[in-house]
Amino acid sequence: MNLLITGGAGFIGTNLIHHLIDDPKVVKLVNLDCLTYAGRLENLETISHHPKYVFERVDLRDQVATLHAIGRHGITHVIHLAAESHVDRSISRPGDFVTTNIVGTYNLIEACRIFWGGDFAGKKFHHVSTDEVYGSLGATGLFTETAPYAPNSPYSASKASSDFLVRSYYHTYGLPTVITNCSNNYGPFQFPEKLIPVVIQSVLARKTVPVYGDGLNVRDWLYVRDHAEALGTVLQRGKIGETYNIGAHNEWTNIDIVQLICDTIDEFSPQSGGHSRQLITFVKDRPGHDRRYAIDATKIQRDLGWAPAHKFQQGIRETIRWYLDHQDWVRSVLKK
Ligand SMILES: NC(=O)c1ccc[n+]([C@@H]2O[C@H](COP(=O)([O-])OP(=O)(O)OC[C@H]3O[C@@H](n4cnc5c(N)ncnc54)[C@H](O)[C@@H]3O)[C@@H](O)[C@H]2O)c1
Repeated sequence: MNLLITGGAGFIGTNLIHHLIDDPKVVKLVNLDCLTYAGRLENLETISHHPKYVFERVDLRDQVATLHAIGRHGITHVIHLAAESHVDRSISRPGDFVTTNIVGTYNLIEACRIFWGGDFAGKKFHHVSTDEVYGSLGATGLFTETAPYAPNSPYSASKASSDFLVRSYYHTYGLPTVITNCSNNYGPFQFPEKLIPVVIQSVLARKTVPVYGDGLNVRDWLYVRDHAEALGTVLQRGKIGETYNIGAHNEWTNIDIVQLICDTIDEFSPQSGGHSRQLITFVKDRPGHDRRYAIDATKIQRDLGWAPAHKFQQGIRETIRWYLDHQDWVRSVLKK
C-alpha cells in the first residue's frame, strides 16, 4: 500500500500513524495535513525520519494541490481523517466546517477518482466519520449501521454530508469506499478543547471545571489506540461499500466522567485546597446538545474480529498520566 492518511497531525491521526508505520503491508505512508490549530507535527517527531514516512502540507480545500499529492505518491489507499472536529467551534464558525469537511472531502475523493482513472483494483478509500451523524438517542437503544441520519449540529451535519458524498461515489462510480462511524475518543494527543483534556487541565490549574447543562448527557467512550486498531482492521479487511460502527459499549454521563477525572487526579497528585470535585460548575447548556449517543459495534466485531483491548478505567488512568507527564505539550499547543 501507498497509504495516504489525511489529518495525520491531529489527535486520532497521530495515534493511527504511530500504529501503522511499521505495518509491513504499508510501503509508503504519506501524512497530508494543513496544520490548523489542531495539527502538530511535533506529535510525530519520533517517526519523522522513518524511511516510509512523508509529510505533505496541503490544504484539502485546494483541489489542485490535493490531486498533485495523490498523483506524486502513487496513492493506492486513503484513510481520510482531516476535518474540523469540535462541535462548539462549528456553532461559532460553521463555514469552516462546510469548506473543510464537505468541500475538502469532495476534493479528496474526486482526486482519487481522477487519479485512479477507473482502475480500482487494489485500491481503497476509507472515510472516517462519527456517531454524531445519527443524532440523539433517548434513554435506551443503540445506533446500528442502519440507523437513520439525523445530525443536529453544524459539525455533525457536515460529517453527514461527507458520508453521503462518499456513499454516492461508491454507488455512482464504483469507487472502492468504506465508511466508519465511531463514538467519542479519548487518549494521548487530544487537543485541550474537548471534554476530557479540558477537565484535566482545569483541575491542574485549579480553575472551575465547566459542565454543560445538568451534566447528564451520555457519551460512549473509546480509547484512541483501540480506534487506531479498528481503522487498521477496516483498512485491511473491511468490505468495500460497507459501513462499520466502532465503539466500546462504554456509556458515561458527563458528570460521572468529570468526577472520575477529579478523583483520579487527586489520587495521582493530591491538590492543595481540597478535593477537585469542588471545582465543578454547571454552565448554560450547549445549543442543540444531543442527549445520548451509544454505538452498537456488533458488526465490526462479528465480521472483522475487532474488539477494544482497553478497559475504560485503565485507559482513563493512562490518559490522565499522559497529560500529567506532557504539560509542555499542552502549553505549546495552547500557545499555537
Ligand atoms: N475525536 C473524536 O472523538 C472523533 C470521534 C469520531 C470521529 N472522529 C473523526 O475523526 C477525524 C479526526 O478527528 P480528530 O479528533 O483527530 O480531529 P483533530 O481536530 O484533532 O485533527 C484534525 C486534523 O485535520 C487537519 N485539518 C483540518 N482541516 C484541514 C484541511 N482543510 N486540510 C488538511 N488538513 C486539515 C488538522 O490540521 C488536524 O491535524 C475527524 O474526521 C472526526 O470527525 C473524531
